[in-house]
This record gives sequence, C-alpha cells and structure tokens, in this order.
Amino acid sequence: MDEGLELWVKAEEEVLEKGIRSLVNYAVLAPSLYNTQPWKFGVTVEEEKDEGLIQLFFDRSRGLPFIDPTFKEMYIGLGAALENLVVAAEYFKYTPYVNLLPEGEKSDLVANVELMRSLREGDEVLFKAISGRRTNRGPYESRPLSDEVVEKLMSIPPEGLELQFITEGKVKDFIASAVKGALKYQFRNKEVRNEIYSWMRFSGEEAAVYRDGLSLETLNISGLKARIFPVVMKPKAVDLFHLDFFFVRNIEKLIKKTPVIGLLSGSFNTRKTQLIGGRVYERLSLVATNLGISFHPLNAAIQVEAYKEQVRDAYMLLDEEPFVLFRMGYAGPASHSRRRPLEFI
Ligand SMILES: Cc1cc2nc3c(=O)[nH]c(=O)nc-3n(C[C@H](O)[C@H](O)[C@H](O)COP(=O)(O)O)c2cc1C
Repeated sequence: MDEGLELWVKAEEEVLEKGIRSLVNYAVLAPSLYNTQPWKFGVTVEEEKDEGLIQLFFDRSRGLPFIDPTFKEMYIGLGAALENLVVAAEYFKYTPYVNLLPEGEKSDLVANVELMRSLREGDEVLFKAISGRRTNRGPYESRPLSDEVVEKLMSIPPEGLELQFITEGKVKDFIASAVKGALKYQFRNKEVRNEIYSWMRFSGEEAAVYRDGLSLETLNISGLKARIFPVVMKPKAVDLFHLDFFFVRNIEKLIKKTPVIGLLSGSFNTRKTQLIGGRVYERLSLVATNLGISFHPLNAAIQVEAYKEQVRDAYMLLDEEPFVLFRMGYAGPASHSRRRPLEFI
C-alpha cells in the first residue's frame, strides 16, 4: 500500500485490539485546508477499564499564516477531526464527553474528549463514511439534488450555524467569478504564492515522503499538464497566463456546471464556533458521502477580503462569518489524499 494511504483502509480490528489510542486513526482522515493536517494528539488510557482521555491539539507549525492568518480555517479542520473522533468512538461503543477549549481560546489545546465505555453502538453508516469521504475536484453532473436530500442536509446545522444553498444560474456564475478572481489575486501575491507552492507535492515520490499537502493526483492534473505544472507554479515564474490556464479558468467552468453551491457560516466568529463549524462541515460531508454526493470546498473566495464581501452579498449575509464555501453534487470517482503518521504528544 502506498505510503500515507493505508489509513483509509485500516482494519477496524486495530481499534478492537489496541483500544482508544487507535481511534485517532479516524480523526486524521478529516479534511484540512491544503491538507496541512494541523493536529497532534495526547492519549491517556486506563487499561483495565479500556477508558481514557484523548486530547486534540493545534499544531501551529502547520498553519498557513498568509492564506489563513487568523487560523480560522485551521480550526475548522480541527473541528472536522473532532467530529470523526466522536463518530468513530460511538461506533466502537464509547460515550465521548467533549470539552471544547478547556484552557481557553489562547491555548493550543483544542478539546478534551473523555471516553467512557457504553453498551450502545453508534451509527455504522456514518462511521463507514469516514473512510469513504474525500474532496472531489472533478466535474459534477448537472443533475440537481432532490428536495429530500436538501432537507436532510439542511437539518444538520445546530443553532448558531447556518447552511445556505445557491442553485440559480446567475448567482452561481457570480460565485464562480468571485472564486476565479480570488485565486488570481492569491497567485499574484508573492507570500501567498510561496505558501501555496510549499504545500504542493509535484511527484509521486514527493507525495509519499511528505504525506501531506496537495498532490497532482488529487488536483486531477496528469499527462503533459503534470510535467508543465511544477514549472509554472514556481514562485518566481511570472507567466500568469499559464497559471490561469491550469487552475483558474478550469475551476470557473467547473463551478458553473455544478448544481449547488453551499455556504456554511457562523452567527459569531469565535474559536468555539469555528470548531463547531468544522464538526458540522464534516457531518454534512459524511451524510453526503453516504448518499453518493461529492463535496469540493472553494474557500479562496472567502480568504480574500474583497471577494468575501461578494460572497456575503450573494448569500445575503448580515453579520455572519462565512466558514466553508463549497460545491456539491454527483460526480465520478476521486483519489484519496495521504495522511502523515499519527503524532502524539
Ligand atoms: C476549511 C477548509 C477549506 C478548504 N478549502 C479548499 C479550497 O479552497 N479548495 C480546494 O480545492 N480544497 C479545499 N479544501 C479541501 C482540502 O484541500 C482537503 O480536505 C485536503 O486536501 C484533504 O483531502 P480530502 O478532503 O480528500 O481528505 C478545504 C478544506 C477545509 C477543511
């Protein structure tokens, strides 16, 4: 098995044999911005009872200070990891007691999850979706989502989080153009472009060594494009025409053809709501995975202030903070991205 891909098919027996420490295997399958996997874990086990505590920490060295200077999106990824942990724990008959930010917002301790043994087994379908989920950057069918599916997804966010869908052609085009504009802006900014470059994995070998970042495979870049791509992406390359050709034009077309563009936003923008936002985004993805529906976040448009305003206008937000902008629909297969070995404190 390819280095870094084995966790997606890890046998469930590992949890049954090794207990709560192995639940972390599922947490790290969560999505994270540029696949930086900004997490570390602390585990304390009471062996005789097979109970204990899993602590989730933010690994600041994996933050993206230019793309995501407030680390909002890092916390969304951490929330997604927490959701996987909870779903997996319940499936393996633990009751997880989650305490968010037990040492306050400034500490890198994101959550304590106390695990007690329980007799009840959690949701198997949701659990199975953890290893089925992936970001799908390919073309989506124009087939709309049924009212039933929309209702099911809409019922997921708790109070304080809002989910909105846009399906109308003109507004979708507007969003597509905002994403395009934001990406162009980011590529023209030296610091952001360097940061993007440093998380690109240009060959299979590089991807297998780092086991993080964005590989060409997950970006759907192959053949001749795969050979030219590292050259045009170089921070010093000035040929922005080619960059447009590779990324920007394509993404605009893909967005326009996708039936639904969703936005998950929070009534408040605090560390706590970002974590809850991440949990909700992951739960939406798991439910969608189970229904055969793909997701693709498009957060560039909310990373650049001017375009974030356009997104706010399109969704008629007042004070809410956009957390994840994404396209959604039915699509063909997509590759899994790699994961680093587990890191414990
Ligand atoms: C908060 C957040 C923002 C993201 N923004 C983007 C984005 O703008 N464009 C994109 O292609 N993927 C985006 N992603 C998806 C990640 O790149 C993806 O989760 C990561 O590469 C791991 O791959 P996986 O989701 O297939 O496991 C985002 C993910 C998160 C959690």
